[in-house]
Amino acid sequence: MTNRKKEHIDICLNKNVEYGDTGFEYYRFTHNALPEVNMQEIDTSVDFLGKNINAPIIISAVTYDREHQELTTNLAKAAEKLKLVMSLGSQRILIEQPQMAMDEDIRKHCPTIPLLANLGAIQLNYGFSANECNKIIQNVKADALVLHLNPLQEAIQPEGQTNFKYLLSKIKKIVDNLDCPVIVKEVGSGISKDVAFKLKQIGVSIIDVAGHGGTNWALIEGHRANNRLGETFREWGIPTVEAISQCNDVDLQLIAGGGIRSGLDIAKAIALGADYVSIALPLLRPATISEGEVIKILQQFIHELKITMFCIGAKNIKELQNTKALVKVK
Ligand SMILES: Cc1cc2nc3c(=O)[nH]c(=O)nc-3n(C[C@H](O)[C@H](O)[C@H](O)COP(=O)(O)O)c2cc1C
Repeated sequence: MTNRKKEHIDICLNKNVEYGDTGFEYYRFTHNALPEVNMQEIDTSVDFLGKNINAPIIISAVTYDREHQELTTNLAKAAEKLKLVMSLGSQRILIEQPQMAMDEDIRKHCPTIPLLANLGAIQLNYGFSANECNKIIQNVKADALVLHLNPLQEAIQPEGQTNFKYLLSKIKKIVDNLDCPVIVKEVGSGISKDVAFKLKQIGVSIIDVAGHGGTNWALIEGHRANNRLGETFREWGIPTVEAISQCNDVDLQLIAGGGIRSGLDIAKAIALGADYVSIALPLLRPATISEGEVIKILQQFIHELKITMFCIGAKNIKELQNTKALVKVK
């Protein structure tokens, strides 16, 4: 498992693993030459799971294995310094190969911010139950559990687990039996309105659409397997903007992940109806270097978000969400 994570990270650092259009390029903000706002007073803070954070940004799930401990702690420390949300990568390893899981207390590096535990939902069909979920939550003192859905990745992965039968009812059992909220995310192929609705019906209150147009798991697994499946399926998935707009019709808190590459993308995602965004790939290389490098790139995202809000005259995230300045151009 730890080898697989290493291969994923090496491929992400050394090959082009992004493909397609998120859809943000089809939108433009109308410039306001008289915004009547002091840029220094723009407030990007929001609440997430009852905690106040400085910007609607979630560091998306990437790692939890011991080999990448430093990378994970760099992300956690940066999230704490900037007061954002920190997600851990899959913690399956903690149950199946505990000697290969992180042995540092991650909470020590991010004591005050929301911290999210993570597991592939598919594990619920391969022996995991609420017991294992509770264990990974308690181990890191997480505020919520994130279950990821990744059928395309599993189908292309040579060792993939592809029995997705009855998964919705298994997720419901987890939602019913945990004391903390359950968030469901994709990993880059998007969540449709239909799936969002089913998740809402079983009690999931937050989803991350993790749509197409950013990190592309068909390409990553295609590289690993050295076969043509990556090329065949690199176009597969619901572009992030389309996923936001489909899921907007369902009354859920919405995280827009998948291909968020600037503060301008963040602003567009929020103006299109998302409550938060999540970011993975752009933080990966900085996280291999230092906490400071992660902070630098996140500060750039936040600065770009503020410039966008300034130039449309939005003083806070609520005003950005209600803006009429975003127009479709193609
Ligand atoms: C190297 C790497 C490892 C990842 N591992 C996980 C994981 O363990 N669990 C998960 O839910 N998502 C995982 N993801 C998916 C991301 O959390 C995110 O949803 C996806 O990459 C889309 O965002 P992006 O385009 O900003 O990278 C991983 C992404 C990358 C790049």
